[in-house]
Amino acid sequence: MKSYSVKELLAKQPIGESVEVNGWVKTFRSNRFVALNDGSTIHNLQCVIDFENFDENLLKQISTGAALKISGPLVESQGRGQSVEIQAADVFVHGTADPETYPIQPKKHSLEFLREKAHLRVRTNTFSAVMRVRSALAFAVHQYFQQNGFYYMHPPIITGSDAEGAGEMFRVTTLEPQNTPLTEDGAVDYSQDFFGKETNLTVSGQLEAETYAMGLGKVYTFGPTFRAENSNTSRHLAEFWMIEPEMAFYDLDANMDLAEDFIQSILTYVLENCKDDLEFLEKRLLDEEKSKPQNERSEMALIEKLKFIVDNNFKRVSYTEAIDILRNSKPNKKKKFQFPINEWGADLQSEHERFLVEKHFKCPVILFDYPANIKAFYMRLNEDGKTVRAMDVLFPGIGEIVGGSQREERLEVLQQKIKALDIDEKELWWYLDLRRFGTAVHSGFGLGFERMVQFATGMGNIRDVIPYPRFPQNAEF
Ligand code: 4AD
Ligand code: MG
Repeated sequence: MKSYSVKELLAKQPIGESVEVNGWVKTFRSNRFVALNDGSTIHNLQCVIDFENFDENLLKQISTGAALKISGPLVESQGRGQSVEIQAADVFVHGTADPETYPIQPKKHSLEFLREKAHLRVRTNTFSAVMRVRSALAFAVHQYFQQNGFYYMHPPIITGSDAEGAGEMFRVTTLEPQNTPLTEDGAVDYSQDFFGKETNLTVSGQLEAETYAMGLGKVYTFGPTFRAENSNTSRHLAEFWMIEPEMAFYDLDANMDLAEDFIQSILTYVLENCKDDLEFLEKRLLDEEKSKPQNERSEMALIEKLKFIVDNNFKRVSYTEAIDILRNSKPNKKKKFQFPINEWGADLQSEHERFLVEKHFKCPVILFDYPANIKAFYMRLNEDGKTVRAMDVLFPGIGEIVGGSQREERLEVLQQKIKALDIDEKELWWYLDLRRFGTAVHSGFGLGFERMVQFATGMGNIRDVIPYPRFPQNAEF
């Protein structure tokens, strides 16, 4: 007898064939109808168990969450709601799930409740749909780059450098906390640590990716990155996955073109390959938003929103233009911004980014040419001497989804910048070597994978789009 996944059975519908399927019970109605799901699709398979033909003790073991193997002929369904069903001839119970203690019951659970049960939440419709979309997006990322001449590069997870210069890093050490060796002046003596120096978890693979772009031409990274920022927001994680393409001979315009094409391509893939999950997630979002006041609801339904991104060009606006728009905006004049915009040079907060995208332009926006002093050291200085070739892609409902730049390829300019920021040049000797030997214009960007999953699934909290979120005061599981 052939074993099928629920997805295969519903797609092929081999009516009359005796089939076998494994899965978990979603519901068991009238001691007769099992809705079985195996994770392969959002849809369940109905299995009809004629209780007259089965042992009562077996039937007692069937409840929500139990794992079963059911076999029997696939037949056209008599009832409404499904086209086919299995007429169960044999039922094997892999494992039971006591309804008294199994937390995932067939009723609505809040996302907060499910976060505490992160090891079981993937058995719900919402989380299984989100995680299938996440998987599809990851595949689309690799497919896009592999088809466009990029090589997948693996930067180190443990590094001795701080790529973003922000200093919010997790230290990696094997020194004993109670017994740390000290130097003569009382500081921790990291020369006695595992690596013989201070090390941390990477905040970005960019600097190492640059070295590879300057040999392989076009590379991308896709891996976990770590930030010890104490941000308890719905957009921040302490451990998140980042995609960082880096390209030799690309200027900022080419970099922006790539970011736009890449994003549109992976969303197209999801629209084409995750239709059932997106339809479910769209409905979930509509239900969730019913309880919100009208002005906080999305203007577009989920699938329409994804199509909008795919079909429309992103609006490109310089930082200077954006500041003018913000300064003269209604919320700024009415003092509605928590951080009022008074002058050129102000760092943009997410309230400003979202105003530009959601209220002013009503489409994705790429802001470029930011003030040098609010951006990282490696960004290429413009002729004006005060702005850098930086770009951020801003998305509706999300804010910043991509951050990138053209890199400073001129040795002297980079050295001056490093000195001005008080960064130890010796730490970056290898990075500076790139500017000494065969330097060239090059660019890249970083896309926060979870923020993209949030956008594609319509989930409001980033903690619900990664299997085991890491955030301040939480490292359960
Ligand atoms: O803007 P960021 O900090 O840029 C970099 O790390 C550059 N080295 C990228 C590059 O040019 N290669 O981070 C890039 C993106 C952000 O736009 C955001 O989407 C995401 O990473 N991100 C986070 N996502 C979740 N949680 C956090 N704490 C994040 N911090 C950044
Ligand atoms: Mg950024």
